[in-house]
Amino acid sequence: MCGIIGYIGYRNKKEVAIKGLKSLEYRGYDSAGIGFINDKVYVFKKVGRVDELKDVVNNINATLVIGHTRWATHGGVTEENAHPQTDCSNNIMVVHNGTIENVDELRLRLKNHKFNSETDTELIAHLLEEELKETEPLKALELTLNQLKGSYALVIGIKGVNKLLFAKQDSPLHIGLGKKEFFLASDIAAFVEYTRKFVPLMDGDYGYVSLEGYKIFNKGKEVKRDVLEINWEIKEVEKGGYPHFMLKEINEQVDVVGNALAVNTSNIEEMISNAGSIHIVAAGTSYHAGYLLKLLLEKYKGIESDIVIASEYIFTKRPNKDTVVIAISQSGETADTLQAIKFAKRRGARIVGITNVMGSSLTYLSDEYAIMNAGLEVGVAATKTFTSQVAIAFKIVFGGRVNKEKIKQTLTSSLNIDIASLAKKCINYDKMFFLGRGLSYPIAMEGALKFKELTYKHAEAYPGGELKHGPLSLMDEDAFVFAFMPEDETFAKMIYSVEEVKARGAFVAAASPGNVDKVDALLKVNKEEMPYQLFSFIPLLQLLAYRTSVLLGNDPDKPRNLAKSITVE
Ligand code: G6P
Repeated sequence: MCGIIGYIGYRNKKEVAIKGLKSLEYRGYDSAGIGFINDKVYVFKKVGRVDELKDVVNNINATLVIGHTRWATHGGVTEENAHPQTDCSNNIMVVHNGTIENVDELRLRLKNHKFNSETDTELIAHLLEEELKETEPLKALELTLNQLKGSYALVIGIKGVNKLLFAKQDSPLHIGLGKKEFFLASDIAAFVEYTRKFVPLMDGDYGYVSLEGYKIFNKGKEVKRDVLEINWEIKEVEKGGYPHFMLKEINEQVDVVGNALAVNTSNIEEMISNAGSIHIVAAGTSYHAGYLLKLLLEKYKGIESDIVIASEYIFTKRPNKDTVVIAISQSGETADTLQAIKFAKRRGARIVGITNVMGSSLTYLSDEYAIMNAGLEVGVAATKTFTSQVAIAFKIVFGGRVNKEKIKQTLTSSLNIDIASLAKKCINYDKMFFLGRGLSYPIAMEGALKFKELTYKHAEAYPGGELKHGPLSLMDEDAFVFAFMPEDETFAKMIYSVEEVKARGAFVAAASPGNVDKVDALLKVNKEEMPYQLFSFIPLLQLLAYRTSVLLGNDPDKPRNLAKSITVE
């Protein structure tokens, strides 16, 4: 979702901006733009892909450049609404991620200004134009920010000012530190090619980068922030011989799971053991990993917890100082998840973060955190980060007793199962059901999510026992059912569910180590003890979604209407 790149330095500006935007593509976007400043402000925008933008951008000789990939929120997908946005005199250019809430009030204040777009971002350019009439750029920025309600990562260029101004509130922004060059980006992927040192900005931070250095301010005072080192390699932004990032990342799971298991979770285990109540919050795929954590804690440690969809948390939960909130987020920047933990913190709760991104907002908001170390995940649909989250859940529950080799072997054997003919079958169905019970229910949920994200087909997950309470009415020859059947106490009951749907004409596939002769297709996985058996199902559900999506002609790396990192509510 929306990506920002800003650069000041000696390199070719167009090249840095285009490369930066290309590496941000995976976040999801619908239009893009680039702005330069030398003797004047030059802005180029295009609806569609960065590759198309590249063809319309002149190679302007300038000291600084800003670029943006936009995911429409305020205003439709048009060239006018793409960023950079400019002021009336075309002296100021602004790129923005986030949402400004007091738009109507600001528009009234700017009655005399001429607007060219429907965006909230353009208001910021005009507000700054007003303030610059009275004062110098940094003060004008501060005064502008004081008028904004909402979330923003902002990078701003002003004609005649050899600096890029920035500000951050509830939307990620990092400074990349080079030698006599500086980058500003919503994601470190945009500058990893040039420097591995970066500063993650905190909420309320604003300031500038110039050729000489950078300064950060917060509440009117200069502040120092940590300098961090990027912990993954540039090759992770390349497909490495695979046709898609998703397939590459599915195959990387065996390796990265070891990184997740190497994380020390003893402080987290202690916090959980001493908690009065435990709330697990997450969105999307991370929610399914959280669901599994909840079930594992209860089943193997007798610890009860609540799993809550992040965006529902503030409406449904009342955490207090005895509550431990475990927030799971691959990006560490999902606005819904951050909103939930900020709410919990205000009520005195303590926070445990599980994330893949060191320096993300989640790490700063957490009292304790675990980093998955899964490397960059480019595919919009989470794969290796899900497996890493599940691995961390195992580590939290079983501590040092968790068997890494068993997890790796289980994943490897399932990655070798051929799913092509089943994917071929799937393309003929529009009603998909993923069934599981007990510990395999969250796996079924992830199966349905992955499948709908990538194939654009309707897919739902149900615990087998729930079929008779509604979904059976949907079972006929047009239904495809995929059942996850570990040989635990749920096996016999799942056999019954399979018979129920088969009897009504559905096509039934199952993944199981056991003999399930009633089904139309059996993906026989290696026998493994529970809960390790769960890892045998994960590559299958991912590969089924991936293969079906490719057969349908979809782009599995960038499913329509979805974004990797949702930094607005
Ligand atoms: C978006 C992505 C999902 C992801 C979810 C949570 O919706 O499209 O794939 O699972 O955000 O992301 P997080 O970074 O918090 O794990």
